[in-house]
Amino acid sequence: MAGRLSKTDVVSIDDLAIDEIERVFELAEGFAGALERGEHLSVADGLIMATLFYEPSTRTRLSFESAMHRLGGAVISSADMKSSSAAKGESLADTARIVSGYADLVVIRHPHDGAARVAAEYSLCPVLNAGDGSREHPTQTLCDLFILRRKKGKLKGLTVALCGDLKFGRTVHSLIYALARFGANIVAVPTSGMDVPEYVLERLAAERNYSFATVTMDELKSLAGGLDALYLTPSGPHQMALFTRDVPLEKIPAAEPPSTLDAFYVTRLQKERLANTDTASQAYVRFDARALRTHRTHEAVVMHPLPRTDELAYELDTDPRAVYFEQAAVGVPVRMALIAWLVEQTKASRERASSVTEKIRFKAEPSPRCANSNCITRFEGAHLRPRFRLARTMDRAALPLRCEYCERELRVEFVGHARSHRYYRYDENLYGYVRSWIDEGSLAVFETVKQAEENGYEPYRRGPQREVMDSAEVATAITSLAKQIVDDLPDLTNVSIVGVVSRGAMLALRLRDAIHAIAALTLPCGAIDVYSGSDIVQPLDGTTEFGVEDRNIVIVDDVINSGWTVQRAMTALWRLGRPSGVKLAVLIDRGHRALPIRPNYVGKRIPTSRTERVQVRLATNGKHKQQDRVMIYSVVEPMKEDQPG
Ligand code: NCD
Repeated sequence: MAGRLSKTDVVSIDDLAIDEIERVFELAEGFAGALERGEHLSVADGLIMATLFYEPSTRTRLSFESAMHRLGGAVISSADMKSSSAAKGESLADTARIVSGYADLVVIRHPHDGAARVAAEYSLCPVLNAGDGSREHPTQTLCDLFILRRKKGKLKGLTVALCGDLKFGRTVHSLIYALARFGANIVAVPTSGMDVPEYVLERLAAERNYSFATVTMDELKSLAGGLDALYLTPSGPHQMALFTRDVPLEKIPAAEPPSTLDAFYVTRLQKERLANTDTASQAYVRFDARALRTHRTHEAVVMHPLPRTDELAYELDTDPRAVYFEQAAVGVPVRMALIAWLVEQTKASRERASSVTEKIRFKAEPSPRCANSNCITRFEGAHLRPRFRLARTMDRAALPLRCEYCERELRVEFVGHARSHRYYRYDENLYGYVRSWIDEGSLAVFETVKQAEENGYEPYRRGPQREVMDSAEVATAITSLAKQIVDDLPDLTNVSIVGVVSRGAMLALRLRDAIHAIAALTLPCGAIDVYSGSDIVQPLDGTTEFGVEDRNIVIVDDVINSGWTVQRAMTALWRLGRPSGVKLAVLIDRGHRALPIRPNYVGKRIPTSRTERVQVRLATNGKHKQQDRVMIYSVVEPMKEDQPG
C-alpha cells in the first residue's frame, strides 16, 4: 500500500536540515496562535497516527496524541506495550511492519539504543523517534530549540550549559547535535562519571567544526560539584584545517570561557539506564536560584525536559527565567508542526534518499555482535543483522567499527579476507586494505583466532623485505628536518617539539639535538601517546614542564601513512590548550593519505604501494644496540597469494 505520508523518518535530529527545522518552527508559531484562538484545524484530516510506547511517558506521548487530534487526525495506541504482542515475544521489526499497515505515521519510544532506527527500517510509513534508549530524542530537541529561540531571539552564538547526566540523557545528545549545527556554544557540566559519551563527541568532531577544550569556571564549578567543564565552541578552526590550507594558520583564536550564559539545561539522573558499573553519583546537580545570581548568569533561562526529580528546586518555578513548563507546553504546537511538515513534504512529493553511509557487509559467520549490551541488535537477534561502518577514531591494534543502530564502537582485533580465507591480526597499516575489502564486500571480522580458524580461515604470510634507508641516511634526514625547521620558524624560542609515541618520540629527541647543533638552542620536548586514551604530553628528558598554550608546536612522527595518527595527536593537543601554530615533521612521507594532511617538513619521500609497508627501526642506547634502518616489506596480496609460484 502506498502510504498517505511520504516515508520521511525522524530518527535523529540530524534527519532534519536546518531549513526544515526553521520551517517546523514557523509552522509551530502559527499553530500556537491557532490554538490560542481556538481554531478548528484539518491539516491531518483522514490520517491516523499510531503511538508505540515501550517506556513510560507523559509529556511526549500526550502531546503527540493531542497534536494529532488538534490537527483533525486520529490516534491509535496500545495502552501499554506489555499488553501488546511484544509480551508474547514479537520482534520490534514485526510490530513496526504490522502497525504501519494500520496507520499513516508511527511514533515510537523504546528502552533500547537504536530501536527507532529498526522501526523506521521495517515500517512502511514514517517513524518519529520519541526517545530510544540513551541515544536520541529529536522531537524534545525541537521543543527545546523552539523555546530557546523564543526566549533569546536567536540560537547562533548562544551559550548553553548542559548540566547533570550527559551520559544517558538522550534529550541532551540530540540537543548537542542541534546546538552545534545552529552555531551555539555548549558548556558541558556533567555530574561525575556522567560525561558526554565519546560517540557523541566523535559525531560532533566528524560532522561539525567543533573544537574541544577544557576550561575551569568558578561558577560552573560550584554548579557541577567542583568539576571542570568541557567547553565546546563552534568558532575555533577545526584541527585539520591547519594542514589542509596552503598557508598554515599561525594564530588560532583561543577558546575563551564564555562571558555570559544564556541558558541552563538541567536534566535528571537517568536511573533506569545505569549499569552496575556506573558510578551513580551521590552528589548530583542541585540547581537553584543561586546559580542565577552572578552577572554572567542573571539573564539565563532555566530549561529542563522534565520530569524532574531532586535536581531542580521548586522555588524556581515562579521565577520568570524558569521556562520548563512552557517548554513542555510547546510540545503540542511543535509536534503539530512536525506532523504538518510531513504533510507538506508529502504534497511536494519529496521522497528522501536514504542517507548514504559506508555500510559494511560481512562475509563471516557469525557476524559480529555490537559491544553495547543495550543495543537493539542484541534483542532482535533472530532477524536483525548488526550493521557497522568504519569509526573515525583510530587505534593501532584494533579496527574501530561503529554500530549503525546505537552508534557505539566495536573494536575488532582480527580481520579476514573472505575470498582468500586469510585472517590477520589488525594493525594500523592494514587500514587501506580493510577499506578495499569493505568496498568489495569481503571483510570478515573475528573476536579471536579460534573463531577465525573455526570459520576456515588461515593466518596470512609476510612477503620479502628490503632496506630503503641505512643509518647514515636516517641521520642525514634528521639533520635535514632540523634545517628545514630552523629556516622556516623565525622565533625558535617559542617552539616546542612533540613526538608521537614511540618512534616519533625518539625522533623528537634526535631532532631537538640536531636543532641544538645548528641554532645552539634546546627546545622543550614532549611525547604524546595517541593510543593511551589520555591526552597527556609527557615531558621528555631535560624538559621540566611541557606547555601547549600559545606555543608553536612541531609534531614529530616517523612515517605518515593514512594521517589518522597525526589527526589523533592534534585532537589531544587541542584538549590541552591553544597552540599559536602547529607544524608536522615526519621522517618518511609515504604519500598515501586517507586524510588531507600534508607534512611541513619531510626527511625522505618513499612512495610505497598499497601492498608494501614501511617500518622504521631506530637505534636505542640499550644493551643490544641496533642500527637505524628503514625497511620496506610487502604484504602478500590476499588474492595473489594462493597463486602458484
Ligand atoms: C525525557 C525522556 O524521556 O528522555 N522526557 C521527556 O521526553 N520530556 C527526559 C527524561 O525522562 O528525563
